[in-house]
Parts: sequence; C-alpha cells; structure tokens
Amino acid sequence: MPISRRDFLRRSAFAAGATLARQSGHQHAAPIQARPALDPNSLAKFVDPLPIPALAHSMTTRPSPTDPKIKIPFYRVSMQAFDTHVHRDLKPTRMWGFGGSFPGPTFDVASTQEILVEWANELPHQHFLPIDHTLHGAEKDQPEVRSVAHVHGAKVPPESDGYPENWLVPGKSAVYHYPNQQDAAMLWYHDHAMGINRLNIFAGLAGAYIVRDKVEDALHLPPAKYEVPLVICDRMFDKDGQLYYPVSDKPDTPWIPEFFGDAHLVNGKLFPFLEVEPRKYRFRVLNAGNGRFYHLGLSNKLPLHQIGTDQGLLAAPVAAQQIMIAPGERLDLVVDFKECAGTQILLTDDFVPLMQFRVSATSVKDDSALPLALRPMQKLQESAAAKTRFLSLDEIDDKVQNPVRMLLNGKAWHDPVTENPTLNSTEIWAFVNPTDDSHPIHLHLVKFQILDRRKIENFAYLSRQELHFTGPVVPPDPDEAGWKDTVRAHPGMLTRIIARFEGYPGRYVWHCHILEHEDNEMMRPFDVLQTR
Ligand code: C2O
Ligand code: CU
Ligand code: CU
Repeated sequence: MPISRRDFLRRSAFAAGATLARQSGHQHAAPIQARPALDPNSLAKFVDPLPIPALAHSMTTRPSPTDPKIKIPFYRVSMQAFDTHVHRDLKPTRMWGFGGSFPGPTFDVASTQEILVEWANELPHQHFLPIDHTLHGAEKDQPEVRSVAHVHGAKVPPESDGYPENWLVPGKSAVYHYPNQQDAAMLWYHDHAMGINRLNIFAGLAGAYIVRDKVEDALHLPPAKYEVPLVICDRMFDKDGQLYYPVSDKPDTPWIPEFFGDAHLVNGKLFPFLEVEPRKYRFRVLNAGNGRFYHLGLSNKLPLHQIGTDQGLLAAPVAAQQIMIAPGERLDLVVDFKECAGTQILLTDDFVPLMQFRVSATSVKDDSALPLALRPMQKLQESAAAKTRFLSLDEIDDKVQNPVRMLLNGKAWHDPVTENPTLNSTEIWAFVNPTDDSHPIHLHLVKFQILDRRKIENFAYLSRQELHFTGPVVPPDPDEAGWKDTVRAHPGMLTRIIARFEGYPGRYVWHCHILEHEDNEMMRPFDVLQTR
C-alpha cells in the first residue's frame, strides 16, 4: 500500500519521539510554531502543590421550572479571563475559565436534587486564539467571542443542554435547569460554541460536575478528604508562559486536524505534587484534552482499581497497571498507597511524568472500602433495539492526503437531521470507522453500553460501502464495560453501542470529542421524537 504524506509525517513525528497514543489518535507534522516554544522539560518538576478546584456554591434558591412551589438551589457561574501561575517559575498565563479559574469550580450535587445554573459570559470581546473563519459557525460575520455551557453526561431538557448554536456573547447569560435524575457519576461541564469550541476549551473553559447517590454512599469508598479530582489536559506554551495553539501552514485556514501538546496540566498545574497518606484514595479523572489519548499508570506499577466509567460505577472493580482515557472520558479510580509509605510515586502517561504523589511515612487508619461488588448493571438486550443505525466516521482529505474536514455519516452539521430515535426507544448505533484515527464518539442526553467491536476491511468500505469483517467480534474491555457516554471508535473497526433514548424529547447533538474534528463538521444534531 502506498504511504501517504500524512502517514509519513505521522511516522516521522513518532520517530522523533512524540508520544503516539496506541490504538488512538495519531501525530501529525509539527504545526507552525510562530513564537519561541517553552520546553516543559526545562522546568523544575514537582514544585507546585496540586490545586483542588473550589466547590461551586449556590447563593440562593429559586422556584423549580417544573414545580414553582418547590425552591431549588440557584448557582451563578461566570466565564472570565484571568491570569494564573501554571508553574512556579513561569510568568502568569492568560486563560479563560468558569468562575475565573481552570478547572472551574466543581459542582457536587445529589442525584434527583434539581438545580439551576446561570451561566454568564463575562469574557473579553476579542479572542486570543486563532479562529478559523472558514469553519461553519465561525464565519467572519459571527461575533468573535461566543460561548455556551454544556454539562457533558447530564440528562437534561434540550433547552438546558447547551446546543452549540445557542451561544451567548459577552455581557449575556442564560439560566439552565439540571434535574440530576441520574446515577452517581462524574460529569463535566465545558463550552460548546459552534466552530470555536476547541479554542474555548483550550483556553480553559471546563470543570467537573459530580453527582452523588445512596448506592455510592453505602459503599464506604474513600471519603471527601481522600477523594481528589484530576482534570488532565495537554497544552503548548511559549517562552513567556502563554498558551500557544498552533496553526496550519495556510494563513486563511489555520485549523489543524488534531492538537497534541507537550505540556500536561493536572488541575491547571504543570508537574504538580500531592502529599498523600499511606491509605486508599479515590481519584476522579477527566481527560479534558483536545485530542490526546492518555495511558495512565503509576511509576511503581501499583495497581489502579477502576471503580467507574463515564456514567458511574462499574459492577465490580477492575485492576490494571495502565488505563487508557480518551478526550471527554472519565475514570473513577481507587489507589491504595498503604504499602508505599515514605515513597514518591509518579502518575505517568506512558513514561511521561504528569504529577507526583508523596506518600507520608507514618501509617494511618483506613476505614474506607474497596468493595468487590459496586453497582449491579443491567445489560441492555440487543433484542430490545427498535433499530440499528450504521454511521460512518469520515475523513475528507485534500490532494496530498491532509484532512480538510471530518463528517459523520457523510453529512455536515447543517444537513437535515437523520438520526431521530423515538423517546424511550432502544437503538443500536454502529460506528464504521475506515479512518486512521480512533474517534471518541459522544452522545448527549443518553448513557449507553458498548456492545462490541469488529475489524473491517477498510478498502471494501471506502470503495463500495461494503462491510467485510476480517476479525472476530470483540467484547468491550473490562474497563469500559460500564455505562458510558463517550466511546472510542477504533480505526478499521465497527464499534456498536446500545442506548435507550429516555429523558426528554427534543434536539441534541452527537459528535467526536476530538475537538478539532468536532469543530470541523464531525458533529451532528439528533432529534428525540415525542411518542404520540
Ligand atoms: Cu463533552 Cu458535546 O460534549
Ligand atoms: Cu456532552
Ligand atoms: Cu474524530
């Protein structure tokens, strides 16, 4: 098979030492770097304590939109520009964040406790990252700064979901209603503005949203003091410590197919450290990166006990030394530092250090549990599916095989809606991926289960739209065998998920969570149809 320019660049980037994510997003040629780059490895490591994002607080109550007699907590969170030290030895970095921080304040809410959030855009009127005005929704006649908040993984009415076109300009705000009628899980919130989402999230517009419930409480997992959110993402910085988002070599179309940075922020710091006791901890991990797949592990090979996925607890913990997490995905991990008293351990992405744990020397009492059974999971039956939709993931290349846009099932954002499940129906969505990328596909509103994956013959699909299987049916890995809202559709495979479209009728979106793909047409609306 002839090797394309893109493949070649990808391989040479890999040979040059870039971390290539296994069975995942790949590496392109180094994009244009106009300003002198910061080499993060030149920085002193583990000199900044890991920040713990503040909790979001409701200041008041307001009548519930569904029953005005009931008063429910009301929050107000504003998106602001701010300057922050991402490292002790760097000048302050300009970022944009919810509540003027990155990550934004953590929501910590009880399941079924509905809340209202007023999301206020108090950002400047000018963007500081390179907008590509040829992308749909980001044309020159659109306001430069637009934002809309979306809680990823939340089951919410459509008008509160943060539809990408429902953006607000600086000075405006919107009140969204979150019923929280869902199981305990770590969700996250982030900007979702059409055509500039990758830039807004890159700027820092993201935070954690944790839902609790009684099933989880009864498990006696490590308590709040020992429960730590880890919001991980990659960035690039210039020598002045400013965020740097690379551009293509074509000035009119600065869009790049994927962003991979060499500097990794954990809760907004480069190489932070965390002092821990020799006992069990619970880590709520979010990959908030634009395009990077992380392969998390600990330097001393201590097992990571995964207790949950995107949408909550697994049926039983799964132990592993390394776990992959794609953009948009979450991991709920328990780590027991008991045997590690007095040592220092690195959290790594393959061999790249992300942060350090300093385990104190004196042993402590640990009453928390790592139960063998967590939450029973009812498998959705294929026979319950009213429909299977085959949906291709498409990359459109230029003459030299550089991607120019990405599509879902051959359709662009503005094409008429084609996915329209009926409310309360169950459907199988089968993603056909003949591209070279693993695409983390995310559906709003619903949680789903992964049925299986199967290798396909790309050429037969690309040339004749025929599905030829070249391998056996592979069940989901144990670490993704729980409830999900984002699924890695691996290259050269058919990936099948099953979901019940319950909650609310109305218009939602599904998309690839590689933000560069999402912003360049790899996002589609879908309608949940009201039953009559
Ligand atoms: Cu993380 Cu459309 O969302
Ligand atoms: Cu989402
Ligand atoms: Cu993608």
